[in-house]
Amino acid sequence: MRSILLLHSAVICLAVVTGALARATTAVAADSVVVAKTTGSVAEPSTTEPVSGYVFLQKETKEMQDDDFLNPGMQWVESGRDIFNNLQGKEEKTCATCHGKDGSELDPKRIAQYPVYSEKLGKPLTLQAQVHACWADNLGYHPLPYDSEGAIKLEVFVRNLARGEQVNVQTEGPLRTYYEKGETIYQSRGGQLDMACSVCHDDNAGKKIRGNTLSQGQANAYPAYRLQHGKVDGLHSTFNECYRLFRADELRLGDDDYTALEVYLHARGNGLTIETPGVRF
Ligand code: HEC
Ligand code: HEC
Repeated sequence: MRSILLLHSAVICLAVVTGALARATTAVAADSVVVAKTTGSVAEPSTTEPVSGYVFLQKETKEMQDDDFLNPGMQWVESGRDIFNNLQGKEEKTCATCHGKDGSELDPKRIAQYPVYSEKLGKPLTLQAQVHACWADNLGYHPLPYDSEGAIKLEVFVRNLARGEQVNVQTEGPLRTYYEKGETIYQSRGGQLDMACSVCHDDNAGKKIRGNTLSQGQANAYPAYRLQHGKVDGLHSTFNECYRLFRADELRLGDDDYTALEVYLHARGNGLTIETPGVRF
């Protein structure tokens, strides 16, 4: 009974129908207590070239992303712009007070380097974490929850300024250890289906799942408008969604491990064109 539930609720994941997955589900079916046994082992790394998830989209979804009037993510960019220009914090400052109207003084090439290492904080900062820092320190507001609507609106607005730039995360220097940590997480098997990010997004990228195609799990479209959620989602929320697919424990949004995973994911896609806001199913 339990294994039937597991099989049933692994939804999209099941449709991947690969050797790895078949093995994983058989293991669960054969013995539902088996689960954690192989947790921690590492899947084979892959050497394929990075390809944007865009390439795997259905034609209509591509068209929606390509046209700013059809792309529902653009409404989020516009709300973010409005907050950026007009929401006053302490001393009547707005984001635009320091970064120019519409972010004219932010450097798109710099934004394309995020996550960056902050010497001041002694840790990496995702673009959203930088927005949170400015929100609290420079506007004086209470911190926003990670991936909350307001935070996503600001992040998607700022990242959209770098649309068309190439992802360019600096993995030499202090970010290196976080990159490596992220890579380890990416390849570590776990969860009740004993899977890893790499099993779906490296080993099985390009395989059909219910009319859609499994991508490499690249981050260059994010934050992205998700058709099935009817909203723009952050990367960490998508990590949670993927963890749920293979029945592994989710982490806290904004967690250090998720930041490391984000460093790895963006760096793994270095050279890809930033599409924010991408449209995904
Ligand atoms: C009082 C001035 C001030 C205000 C107001 C302010 N920021 Fe900043 N912001 C900064 C400074 C200074 C940095 C550089 C941080 C650093 O290098 O430590 C920065 C960095 C950034 C960056 C990264 C740019 C880069 O070059 O690395 C982004 C994105 C950003 N801010 C967004 C925002 C948003 C969104 C708001 C409004 C919620 C905001 N900022 C409000 C001063 C400000
Ligand atoms: C069981 C298979 C499976 C596993 C394992 C999995 N994902 Fe996914 N992931 C998906 C599916 C399905 C989608 C939506 C279609 C697509 O883009 O591949 C997706 C989408 C994504 C996307 C969005 C890609 C885009 O271009 O929109 C990212 C990023 C991502 N996954 C990261 C991860 C990370 C990080 C892990 C490990 C924590 C992981 N995934 C594990 C199935 C999986």
